[in-house]
Amino acid sequence: MKLSQRIQNLKPSMTLAIDAKAKALKAEGVDVIGLGAGEPDFPTPDFIKQAAIDAINRNDSHYTPVGGTDAIKDAIIGKMKRDYDVAYERKNIVVSCGAKHSIYNLAHVLWETGDEIIVQSPYWVSYPEIIGLTGASTRIIETEADTDFKMSPRQLEAAINRNTRALILNSPSNPTGCGYTRAELEALCGIALDKGVLVISDEIYDKIVFDGFQPSTPASFSDAMKKNTVVINGASKAYAMTGWRIGFIACEDDIAGAMNKLQSQSTSNPTSIAQAAAAAAFNGDDVEVNRMRDEFEKRRDYLLGRFEKMNGVSCVKPVGTFYSFPDISGVFGKTANGKVINGSLDFCDYLLDREKVAVVPGIAFGADKHIRLSFATSMEVLTEACDRMERAVNSL
Ligand SMILES: Cc1ncc(COP(=O)(O)O)c(C=O)c1O
Repeated sequence: MKLSQRIQNLKPSMTLAIDAKAKALKAEGVDVIGLGAGEPDFPTPDFIKQAAIDAINRNDSHYTPVGGTDAIKDAIIGKMKRDYDVAYERKNIVVSCGAKHSIYNLAHVLWETGDEIIVQSPYWVSYPEIIGLTGASTRIIETEADTDFKMSPRQLEAAINRNTRALILNSPSNPTGCGYTRAELEALCGIALDKGVLVISDEIYDKIVFDGFQPSTPASFSDAMKKNTVVINGASKAYAMTGWRIGFIACEDDIAGAMNKLQSQSTSNPTSIAQAAAAAAFNGDDVEVNRMRDEFEKRRDYLLGRFEKMNGVSCVKPVGTFYSFPDISGVFGKTANGKVINGSLDFCDYLLDREKVAVVPGIAFGADKHIRLSFATSMEVLTEACDRMERAVNSL
């Protein structure tokens, strides 16, 4: 069968592929540890599960409005007001089947061939692929560990040209765990506003932040910034609800209306039961979220301590998420089993072959000197994974 050029050009998600590979090896009985996961290892909190059970018992089993029920929109409006003091109305909110779906739909209502979208590297694997599917192209701004993977205003200005349509920001970031301060975001978003470049602010990790780091949304900076910002968020990461598939956008009503139109001809509404559960999550207090956050913070600290004992490995301290993004280029040029390690893919193969630890090569995120390790796994598993990685690295 001849497949479309579009789909032939599309790369599958390497993070999902590595997770699947680790799970398949485990199913074959191999003692493999997967640190590729992009999801919390905790169960969904009970009060959220109960809201779903109640929705089933209420027979909430019919189509809902395409962009979400009033109940979930009101819960999102409440969340945005509480967390960031930004006011939205129902017409500004569209709920989709996960934040990835929100971004996918957004890309298709906004961009086409000839448009350029600015993304910093290291980037979340799906941004360039989703952008590419619309015919638009990705303009990468390279960032490095020594600036905590943050772009400077000067870099942003230099990247903008007359084809630039949008800047995608993801703070705190997958894969680096780094985050912009409010002042830094204000500077970047001010430039975007001046140049007529829409800001897409992916805030999916905003509740998983450490050391008192304060996440902020450009939508809260001023009325003009709010109009120039599309907020992306969802239930997946903060509430351990990756499987429920609820994401949302908050933005101006013309974009929201277009998103509704597209969704009405594709998925229709996200699952009614999942919407009820996510509404409870967004309405709830953050006790459970903070409990998970505290656990992630302990694991981050442990992991950073272990990296220090590994030859040729260094890591920027993440301010949020459940990812670490160590630089492993110190082992490049070394030989293992007759093969020279020349990049992140070689290193990941070595780690998997020798010690049965699966991590994601940085090249998937546009940063070949790095690997991504998720610490969304128990301390026990993390300890064993670190023992194995230390053995693998220090024996080179
Ligand atoms: C930066 C970023 N944005 C969006 C998403 C998508 O989240 P969801 O599971 O809600 O589709 C992810 C998931 O890994 C992510 O890391």
